[in-house]
Amino acid sequence: MHSTHFTDSKPESGLHFDFADETSLLNWAGKLASCLHAGMTIHLSGTLGAGKTTLTRGILHGLGHTHHVRSPTYNLVEIYKISRLYLYHFDFYRFNDRYEWEEAGFREYFNPDSICIVEWPEKAGDLLPTADIQIFLEIVDSGRRLVIRAGTDTGNQCLEKLKNQIHM
Ligand SMILES: Nc1ncnc2c1ncn2[C@@H]1O[C@H](COP(=O)(O)OP(=O)(O)OP(=O)(O)O)[C@@H](O)[C@H]1O
Ligand SMILES: [Mg+2]
Repeated sequence: MHSTHFTDSKPESGLHFDFADETSLLNWAGKLASCLHAGMTIHLSGTLGAGKTTLTRGILHGLGHTHHVRSPTYNLVEIYKISRLYLYHFDFYRFNDRYEWEEAGFREYFNPDSICIVEWPEKAGDLLPTADIQIFLEIVDSGRRLVIRAGTDTGNQCLEKLKNQIHM
């Protein structure tokens, strides 16, 4: 893939990618989408504007969603149904407390029939199930640097598929 490169650097023990522009990140997200399946949880970390929602948009489009993708910042969650798959896109930036979690019934969203993508997982702390995949985004000049890491066996299988997808 041009404009993306991979270095198997050890410190964070993940796969690293650099994206010069939004289009290259969206293309990559489409490839990641083809490695995901129901039951998975993905955590997205990075500062405001790092590209978490953009990445989610790329995943949704890759899964076949053709409509608008908006940031769930104010609702905490946006719900998508793509044929039989449910995708829940959370943004816990404005998350306050456990009560809110229980009240909204978020626990049930994490189930074998859904993919959950979570922005600002740090804000929900230990309430969240273990992430199969953790993605860290960082702004570097006018581009973005991404690190992707597996947290479970399912996540590891996903990363193996991703490596094949992008011919590493
Ligand atoms: N290489 C790139 N990849 C992704 N986004 C980029 C890139 N270059 C520039 N951008 C821009 O950066 C912004 C990323 O915004 P986005 O809403 O995706 O960030 P976010 O991480 O979800 O922020 P927040 O924490 O506020 O929800 C967009 O305006 C996008 O156009
Ligand atoms: Mg966002």
